[in-house]
Parts: sequence; C-alpha cells; structure tokens
Amino acid sequence: MTNKVTAFAPATCGNVCVGYDILGLCYSGAGDKVTVQKIAKPEVIIESIEGEDSLSCDPKKNTAGIVLLELIKEQKLSFGFSISIEKGISLGSGMGGSAASAVAALLAANSFLETPLSKSTLLEYSLKGEELASGHAHADNVAPCLYGGLVLLSNGEVVELPFPKFIQILLIHPHLTVNTKDARKVLKSEIKMKDYVKQSENLAGFITGLYKNDPGLIKKSFEDVLVEPLRSKLTKGFSHCQELAKAEGVLGYALSGSGPSQIALCESHEQADNINKIVTSYYESEGIKVDTFIGSINSEGAKLL
Ligand code: HSE
Repeated sequence: MTNKVTAFAPATCGNVCVGYDILGLCYSGAGDKVTVQKIAKPEVIIESIEGEDSLSCDPKKNTAGIVLLELIKEQKLSFGFSISIEKGISLGSGMGGSAASAVAALLAANSFLETPLSKSTLLEYSLKGEELASGHAHADNVAPCLYGGLVLLSNGEVVELPFPKFIQILLIHPHLTVNTKDARKVLKSEIKMKDYVKQSENLAGFITGLYKNDPGLIKKSFEDVLVEPLRSKLTKGFSHCQELAKAEGVLGYALSGSGPSQIALCESHEQADNINKIVTSYYESEGIKVDTFIGSINSEGAKLL
C-alpha cells in the first residue's frame, strides 16, 4: 500500500432544471483533487488548500475534513488522515465544489480501509459535507459525482438514467458568487397545485425524453416552474442568457444547481459553440469574466489517480 493516495472528483450540476434536489449530472472537465495520507492518530489534519483562499483548514468547517471525521467515527478507525486539497471548482459557483472535495477525500481515504466501503456507504458519509455547506443533506451533487452520469435520487436509491449521446453539454461559469445556503432561503415552503402539476409533467417528460432519445420531448419538458422563478434574479444576466440561448433553439438552458453557473443542453457541438460565443460576449460586455466548457456527460465520476 502506498503512503499517499490522490482522488479526483468532477464538477456536477444539481437539480438539472426540473429535479430540485433529486436529479444530478456529472460534468466533464473541472474538478477537485484531494491527496490523503494515513496518520497514526484518529484525527484529520488539513495540510494545505490550493486554489481557494477562503476555505477553512479546520476539518470540522471543511467538507473534505468533516466527512473524514465522520468516516473515522462511524467506522471506529484507529488511525486518521492528513489531507491536501486542490480546488479546481470555485466556492459558490453552482458546480458542486463542496461535494467534489468531500467525495474526493472519501474515495482516497477508502483505499486505506481494510475492507473498502461501497459507493452507497460513501454517499451517506459525503452528505455530512453537504449539510455543512448548505444546511441541508441534498444528494444531487454528491451522487452524480460518485457514480458519474445523470442520476435520480429515488427514496434513498441512486438510479442511473440514460443520457442521449448526441447531447453536448455547455457549462457556463460567470465569475459571480451565489451561496447555496442563501439560495435555498429564497424558496417557499409551499407551492401551488397548478405549479406542482406542471413541474411533474416536465420531470416526467424530461426523463421519458431521455429514455426515448427524443429531443422534442426533452426540449418541451426542460422548464422549471418552481425554483428557477425565485432564484433567477440571484444570478445577474441569467434570464437574458436563457432567452438568447432559446432563440438559438437550445434543447435546454437552466441554472446549474443554485447558480451562478448555467447549463445548456445542445443538439450539436456547433450549437454549443454558438451559444457559448453569445453568452460569453454578453458577460464580457458586462465586465464579468466567464469560463466555459463544452463536452459530453462524464459517465465515470470520481476516480483514484
Ligand atoms: N439541489 C441543490 C439546490 C443543489 O438547488 O439548492 C445545489 O447545488
């Protein structure tokens, strides 16, 4: 057994427009890396954090740290971990950064266990990190991060959904910050029956469209009538960019998680390129930097390096 193990965990999109807290998708491209070393005492030491200045090195206040403390406690480990974190995903970007650090830490630490734990057990531990980050143990970032692909959280089960190969994903990350905790506070605790019916129609239509490989049904169904109307104003330019993308015939355009990042589902690489140019030029004209990435879905998820 080597002394140090590094894991990479990718960025993810929570909600995927129509599935608040129950749908999540794994992006190709950006991600966090965590290197874990076994230490004698059953404790967690955060040695270093690169790429993000505002994160705490107190393991109880860091998603990678808190999930390892939970692992040590629950598994009654006699040893602990020293970790180094390389953040590739900015905080408050809507790309599942807190989930990625937690998942990478757990996956790497799992290699030091006599009997490594299953993904579903790692998923349970990773939820501790989400609770710390957003005040709520939603699994729609940690699950796609661990399993890859597009997943549905269904009564405690992770259901892997099909994702048509022709769909190109455009990820847009304007350099703005939206804190998920705050973005959850703007939501209402009660919804109107007519909105419930519409959202159910859209969720069912979207999932059916995926199974049937039907771009028309996917496009018709990719609309969030519950959460997006309350959150869109938190991300400058989102509604405008969504309109611009729709005018180009995009399959779907939504906030990634609680924003400010945005996801566009495109019918071709050419369409993704075109929408990328349009949205990027809008943000640049507003003096806001933007990173974008075009790619297929990441069906692999987190991995050891
Ligand atoms: N489901 C979560 C939310 C995702 O929308 O608050 C956050 O990435």
